[in-house]
Amino acid sequence: MQEFTSKVALVTGTTGIGRAIAKRFAAGGAQVVACGIEAAANQELVREAAEFGGNFHVETGDVSNPESVQSVVAQTVQRYGGLDIIANAAAIHPFGSAVETDPQTWSRCMAINIGGVYLTAHFGIPEMKKRGGGVIINLASVQGYACQKGVAAYAATKGAVHSLTRALALDHAKDKIRVNSISPGSVRTPMLAVSAKHFSPDLPLEEVFARFGAGHPLGRIGTPEEVAEMAAFLASSKAAFCTGGDYLVDGGLIAGIGVQ
Ligand SMILES: NC(=O)c1ccc[n+]([C@@H]2O[C@H](COP(=O)([O-])OP(=O)(O)OC[C@H]3O[C@@H](n4cnc5c(N)ncnc54)[C@H](O)[C@@H]3O)[C@@H](O)[C@H]2O)c1
Repeated sequence: MQEFTSKVALVTGTTGIGRAIAKRFAAGGAQVVACGIEAAANQELVREAAEFGGNFHVETGDVSNPESVQSVVAQTVQRYGGLDIIANAAAIHPFGSAVETDPQTWSRCMAINIGGVYLTAHFGIPEMKKRGGGVIINLASVQGYACQKGVAAYAATKGAVHSLTRALALDHAKDKIRVNSISPGSVRTPMLAVSAKHFSPDLPLEEVFARFGAGHPLGRIGTPEEVAEMAAFLASSKAAFCTGGDYLVDGGLIAGIGVQ
């Protein structure tokens, strides 16, 4: 018997870390709905997850839109009979100080990165309660603890993910719903590639990734699969006494004070 047999998982974000988590849950025996906003990425994930057959479904949805999230949750329940696990990995990463960030970009970042976590909880928790419990895993970031220059909106949302994780954990412990966040360091995903291009537009991607990696005590950037293993642990019964916490998968980044 696999760790997630008879469990139904909803994962937001169909590239990078979300994609790796969705596939890891499916490999563990879960029935998975992966929800993303990018049609091309969704199609690619459909092809990648073909090995899981009818136990893996990709849905197009916008985590910042209440009707869309309500619909994705309802379709998940209709398709697989309930909802046990939510992993929130959908996010955007705008750049700029508060002055440089226009109000629309600020609002969109809030609506997706923290609003999406609220919306999946709002519509998903009642379904988890019908199952007698559940697990929520929110992708935060080391930027929730310490941030770099020029990422004001993004960093603000990641601190908010830490806080909302604690609030959800306290409010729903009585419902046997465990809620934790994961704070990765730099991880090889499309989002990190965009950051690399933004901060070092003239350097080859691999060189920038190597530089990012050198800033982590372990000397490299992480992989989406390494983050997915933490998500799998937190979603499993092995983490039965873990709630309200944040778990670093950061190659030691936050352990340092910036001077190695
Ligand atoms: N890659 C890193 O270095 C890193 C570090 C720390 C934290 N994180 C966090 O991990 C999570 C996953 O990021 P990633 O690195 O895999 O990036 P990614 O860009 O590959 O994944 C983000 C996904 O969210 C989707 N998305 C964006 N807006 C959406 C919306 N409105 N509705 C539905 N989906 C939407 C994107 O299409 C994309 O598939 C994010 O929360 C990110 O902040 C990533």
